[in-house]
Amino acid sequence: MSALLEVERLCAELPGGARVVDEVSFSVFAGRSLGLVGESGCGKTSAALAVMRLLPDGAVTRGSVKLSGESLLEAPEARIDELRGSQLSMIFQEPATALNPVLTVGSQIAEGLTVHQRLKPRAAAARAVELLSSVGIADAEVKARAYPHQLSGGMRQRALIAAALACAPRLLIADEPTTALDVTVQAQILSLLTGLKRERGLGLLLITHDLGVVSAACDDVAVMYAGRIVEQGPVAEVFSSPRHPYTAALLKARPSLQSRGHPLEALLGQVPPLGSRLEGCRFRPRCSRALEVCAVKVPHVGEGARRYECHHPVGT
Ligand SMILES: Nc1ncnc2c1ncn2[C@@H]1O[C@H](COP(=O)(O)OP(=O)(O)O)[C@@H](O)[C@H]1O
Ligand SMILES: [Mg+2]
Repeated sequence: MSALLEVERLCAELPGGARVVDEVSFSVFAGRSLGLVGESGCGKTSAALAVMRLLPDGAVTRGSVKLSGESLLEAPEARIDELRGSQLSMIFQEPATALNPVLTVGSQIAEGLTVHQRLKPRAAAARAVELLSSVGIADAEVKARAYPHQLSGGMRQRALIAAALACAPRLLIADEPTTALDVTVQAQILSLLTGLKRERGLGLLLITHDLGVVSAACDDVAVMYAGRIVEQGPVAEVFSSPRHPYTAALLKARPSLQSRGHPLEALLGQVPPLGSRLEGCRFRPRCSRALEVCAVKVPHVGEGARRYECHHPVGT
């Protein structure tokens, strides 16, 4: 099975030279979802923006990003614009700012349709209502005429998903799509996304800091730490037998039924600040399993779908 999105050794430096994405490789397959997970500040959003070619001017990106075999990093700007309207779509992290407060929800969705699919205004407005209805918004006709502030957080997130689906993309990147929502609404949005994946064969890259979201909605997972993917594989395998101490620590730091009444085994310390140059494994200062060699280099263990970067993996 060839990948819909294939990212190889992607590096991104922000203007000023700080490297926020470091040799990142992962694949997203049609009809599957990959969770990109890690603490805040690990570079998840930056990696997605690099894929979309939306990093700020002056950022430098290297490596390879292929969508159905077509190189995105080398494509001319006009071609990227075309692909962003038709093949790949992203739901951005801040739902409050992603919708324009002075336009109705329906007209914002319709706008994309008139630009990218050259629909006439009336047809675009009708299609916008259909799209809102297809993401589970009851009374779509009424809601299309509403302004963003008149909708609940969950409804706004559904509207953003509808907007992202307007041009029937093959790949959807969703950056923390449920973080601002309460737990029941989170579950509804995740089941909407997994339904789209199943029914339309959409490839989904789901960015989250929440391992619960990954177990609920993802087939594969890539764990990111300080700009690198330190472990990846099928969710069931990675979560049942994590190899990288960072993955194990994240899993332990998660409240669960078993840990109720016991203090959480907290993950001590912080993600190293942006641009800090640390030789060897970047997790080493927080790692209880670190060896001397960890200060010198990182190993690449495993290949293909199941990989990790650790000299002293958990379970050995
Ligand atoms: N445009 C920017 N200018 C300066 N620093 C940035 C910018 N975007 C992100 N960063 C920094 O890059 C690092 C990675 O951020 P980000 O990709 O947002 O991580 P995540 O999504 O995992 O929280 C952080 O240290 C963040 O502060
Ligand atoms: Mg982010």
